[in-house]
Amino acid sequence: MSLWSKHQIFEKNSFILLIGILVMVAIGGLVEIAPLFYLKSTIEETEGVRPYTPLELVGRNIYIREGCYLCHSQMIRPMRDELERYGHFSLAAESMYDHPFQWGSKRTGPDLARVGGKYSDDWHVGHLTDPRSVVPASIMPGYPFLSEARVDTRDIADHLKANVIVGVPYSQEQVDDAARDLIGQATPDTDAADEFMERYPTALVRDFDGNPKYVTEMDALVAYLQMLGTMVDFSIYDDKANLR
Ligand code: HEC
Repeated sequence: MSLWSKHQIFEKNSFILLIGILVMVAIGGLVEIAPLFYLKSTIEETEGVRPYTPLELVGRNIYIREGCYLCHSQMIRPMRDELERYGHFSLAAESMYDHPFQWGSKRTGPDLARVGGKYSDDWHVGHLTDPRSVVPASIMPGYPFLSEARVDTRDIADHLKANVIVGVPYSQEQVDDAARDLIGQATPDTDAADEFMERYPTALVRDFDGNPKYVTEMDALVAYLQMLGTMVDFSIYDDKANLR
């Protein structure tokens, strides 16, 4: 019997074909699933990644509320054109505290995974207030009302608590003092700012929107944008990985 005529066993008998398909699907499934039982974690621990500060978390909520994700992704794929444009590809660990994650695939505007530190706070405030004032050909909508809206501190502790339930390692102290930390991060040279820096030593403390009178949604959103992609020191990885 030639190889071809052996194959006819499957082609002429649908029951044997079905058994054959089941065997192949089972092998494919095992190859995908079995390793997951042996891995301690599917996310490689990465130095520098920390939970979001209360102010960044509020900024993230505004980002979701305003639908920024409908035009912006936050995931750099491991392809040459993306690496050239945005930098190191995104690591799973970078979104490990995102609930829900903001990867996305729709890019009307550029990817924002590494936008932190790319522009000044002033640029962001100008851009979010009126995008065409800094990028004349921009089609992004403006969000001038963010500068008027004070952040609501009442539910931030509950928000941290909800994140604890899904695995974000906030300490009890960070939950209890969340409202104070929310204000502290945007009001430098105050006791609240000093306490904030003890609890989040690697976070930025600044008056992000340039308005020292109160902490606005603009402060929160700019704090969030300025943090994106800055937690991991990629100079370590770029040397080793030789990706380009
Ligand atoms: C209708 C689609 C759209 C929406 C919604 C949108 N953007 Fe944009 N965004 C763009 C486009 C297009 C650009 C590129 C032109 C520009 O810089 O304005 C851009 C640029 C940006 C940039 C500069 C990125 C860079 O690397 O130069 C930032 C930051 C940004 N958007 C943040 C936001 C935030 C925050 C929100 C939500 C409050 C938002 N965008 C909502 C379309 C959008």
